Amino acid sequence: MIRIGALVSGGGTNLQAIMDAIDRGEIDGKITAVVSSKDGAYALERAAARGIETAVMRKKDYKTSQDYDKALALFFKERDIDLIVYAGFMLILGPDFVNCFENRMINIHPALIPSFCGKGYYGLHVHEAVLKKGVKVTGATVHFVTAECDAGPIILQKAVEVKDDDTPEALQRRVMEQAEWIIYPKAVSLFAQNRLEIKDGVVKIKEK
Ligand code: GAR
Repeated sequence: MIRIGALVSGGGTNLQAIMDAIDRGEIDGKITAVVSSKDGAYALERAAARGIETAVMRKKDYKTSQDYDKALALFFKERDIDLIVYAGFMLILGPDFVNCFENRMINIHPALIPSFCGKGYYGLHVHEAVLKKGVKVTGATVHFVTAECDAGPIILQKAVEVKDDDTPEALQRRVMEQAEWIIYPKAVSLFAQNRLEIKDGVVKIKEK
């Protein structure tokens, strides 16, 4: 059973989807710590309701970005975490964090990478950009986290239709329901089964 740490900044519906999958016995792991970059994030309440340790670590409380990254890394190292899930985490962490957990961090992005990703593309902004461009299909991507934002090896993707009368909020909800909450727990489960193999920047899913 793997020990999972989560990084959150907001509502935590993806965290919830993972916790629910664990409860259903679909993931051979448990979430042992959740860190929020923001006070009052509802994700913290979701975790606390399950008796999971929570902490708030705000970047502005640290002198430099490096200090923040080091403190976060230390927090998870001290707790013997096998996998870190970014679950609606809105900060980009640097090498002082990323190098400590190479190939052990995964993220959910609310679009089909390499479209609508990178700096500035997060949360609702992604869906606003999708609607502005007029693409007819969007979706979600789970990928390993590397030092470059949204550029790590892709684990799973799922497409979602864009409708003519979509608002950013309606599209965000559909992408969550039809893609994110399905593929994120699945990717965590594959990781827990040690079935993800990265070769030349490409993920292969090993047969059982
Ligand atoms: C989700 O749509 C997630 O994919 C996105 O923010 C939302 C968070 O929702 N993440 C990013 O944009 C990360 N760059 P949640 O807090 O309810 O899981």
